[in-house]
Amino acid sequence: MSTLIDGFTSHHRTLDAAFLAAHNAVDTANWDRALGAFQTFWEAIERHMATEERHLFPVYERHHGADNPLTGILRKGHRDLRGFFEEISETIGAHDADEASALMGTVAQILNHHDEKEEQEFYPAVAPLIPNPEEITALLD
Ligand SMILES: [Fe+2]
Repeated sequence: MSTLIDGFTSHHRTLDAAFLAAHNAVDTANWDRALGAFQTFWEAIERHMATEERHLFPVYERHHGADNPLTGILRKGHRDLRGFFEEISETIGAHDADEASALMGTVAQILNHHDEKEEQEFYPAVAPLIPNPEEITALLD
C-alpha cells in the first residue's frame, strides 16, 4: 500500500469510529454527548472531503477528464452526504432520537459504499499521480 492509500483509508476508519460514537450517544438519548460527538465527526469528515476535492479530484480529472464517471459519482456522494449531515444535526438539535437514528443508519450505509468505492477504485488510481502524499495526508489530521 502507498502512503496516500494508507493515510486516506485509515482516516476512513477514524471517521467510522467517530460516527459510531455519535450514533451510540443518539441511541442512548445522551444529547450533550451526541451533539459534541456529531460535531467532532462532522468537522473531521468535512476536512477529509475538502482535502479530496482540493488535492485529489482535480489531479485525477486532469488525467481522466473533468467528465469522468468516477470523480463525478464521488463528488455527488459528497453533496448527498453534506445534505444528510445538515439533517442529522437538526434532528439531534431537536432531540428526535427516532429520526436521528434512522438517518444515521442510512448514512452509515451510504458512507460504507462511498468509502469502498474510494478505497478500491479511486485511491489506487490517483495515488501514482500524487508526488507529495505525505503533505496531503497530513491535511487530514
Ligand atoms: Fe474518503
